[in-house]
Amino acid sequence: MIKTAYILAISFGSTFSFTPKVVLRPNNVLYAERKPFITGNWKLNPQTKDEAVQLAREISSHVTPSSPCDVALFVPYPFIEGVQSAVIDKFPIGAEAVIPELAGAFTAGISPPMLQSIGVQWSLAGHSERRTLFGESDEYINRQCKLLIEQGMSVMLCIGETLEEFEKNLVGPVCEIQLKKCLAGISEQEMARVAIAYEPVWAIGTGKVATPEIAQEVHSICRNVLREMYGDDVADSTRILYGGSVTPESVDGLMAQPDIDGALVGGASLDADKFGRIINFVPSQVEQLQIA
Ligand code: PGA
Repeated sequence: MIKTAYILAISFGSTFSFTPKVVLRPNNVLYAERKPFITGNWKLNPQTKDEAVQLAREISSHVTPSSPCDVALFVPYPFIEGVQSAVIDKFPIGAEAVIPELAGAFTAGISPPMLQSIGVQWSLAGHSERRTLFGESDEYINRQCKLLIEQGMSVMLCIGETLEEFEKNLVGPVCEIQLKKCLAGISEQEMARVAIAYEPVWAIGTGKVATPEIAQEVHSICRNVLREMYGDDVADSTRILYGGSVTPESVDGLMAQPDIDGALVGGASLDADKFGRIINFVPSQVEQLQIA
């Protein structure tokens, strides 16, 4: 039997600093709060430290006490410290990748402890560009995730299907395999330091954003995989972000979905006004949750 519950999302604006995603369990207990998380991935941009600092300052001016979310920026290594100073601890600055090694003969490698030594707490892992351009496998990504967590850091694990897999209706199995392989060996307690970014490869940098309905369906599948792996507490408290051509125009509809807890934004995070509007998204007032 499908029971429908309407949950009045907390109204936002000047009074509240965030809009929690709440979960109604079958026993009618309101459970988790998942604070929305809007993040930017600058990739190989911008070209100079001065530009990076300027962009970070402009983005930071859009983050106010009434912004409805946590914010983070994943930026190129040489810009991290400059950008940290520019945003004056308003939100964390993360790395775009690490190598799963602590020290040794790994030319050009950047390790989790090196990042920690400059105050970095977050790194991406498993971005599709790392998988395809740099040949990072699920096993390698799993080692990155485990080392980041062992070293006391947090990780945003990116997963998602290719266009071919999407067209063959393989989205669910692909995401399930990636989640299970990349999170292997990570405990229930350690999941507190993991966020997931579902990024369909066909939507990254293409301008083709997944519809809120498609994204919601996949997020719900991913949450159920987490439920099977870790149980209700982890499934209901882990933030699952959507990524792939998110814009000011698409963010509100995405964020209105019950299982979409934020966004990982590439192109639009390089434009402070656009990213500022994404950070200050305006989700719908009433969320509809369907529970079995
Ligand atoms: P996009 O990139 O927003 O430019 O599609 C998203 C990402 O790669 O994380």
